[in-house]
Amino acid sequence: MTPRHIGFIMDGNGRWATAQGLSRADGYPAGLLALRRVISRCKERGVEAVSVYAFSTENWARPDSEKEAIFKVVDTFNRTYDGDTKITYSGNIAMLPDYLEDSICEIEDRTKDNPGTVLNICFNYGGRDDLLHAAEICFSHGRFSKETFERALASSHLPPLDCVVRTGGEMRLSNFMLYEAAYAELIFLVKNWPDMDETDVDKIIELFEKRKRTFGA
Ligand code: FPP
Repeated sequence: MTPRHIGFIMDGNGRWATAQGLSRADGYPAGLLALRRVISRCKERGVEAVSVYAFSTENWARPDSEKEAIFKVVDTFNRTYDGDTKITYSGNIAMLPDYLEDSICEIEDRTKDNPGTVLNICFNYGGRDDLLHAAEICFSHGRFSKETFERALASSHLPPLDCVVRTGGEMRLSNFMLYEAAYAELIFLVKNWPDMDETDVDKIIELFEKRKRTFGA
């Protein structure tokens, strides 16, 4: 069965750029081109939702030049996107520079009625933060149940996360969708994110389809 929801940890942009003799910041525009290829193939293959880890709560520790490069790529994407994908953001966007918060609100509003595949961009997002935030909402409403808790997670509008793919050779989740990944199939690829293309999506779906999922039963 085709995965309904794939999460991508888009790692290796900086290393890709360095290997090309470029500055690390040049890895992010190249990463956006890869994202466009990946999304387009996911749509063709009938994947309902794609979540991507574009800026973690830990990424604030990066040099300003890198943070600014990521913010610029994402802001330009928000302002120029004219496709038919519904774009949503997960994470604390109120902490971002005003121009970026504005373009995030604008693209979410502009694409909210688009049918088909959802692209969920995790930005200033951390799995632990999201869990703590959901717990806080439950406590403030004085009700704690599995349903109210899951409804308070940033991913509540998305189908269950079937698969997490990390590029760049590292094999860890790095605080990405911790609750949602409980039974996700994990796929680790050695290639760096900017090298990803449509054929990789086909390979990921093929690998996923070969996995036997028992959910502990
Ligand atoms: C980790 O790779 C990746 C990031 C911190 C950000 C990735 C962001 C993009 C590719 C932009 C995507 C655009 C949109 C609109 C969502 P790294 O740079 O840490 O790579 P490294 O492991 O080689 O250092």
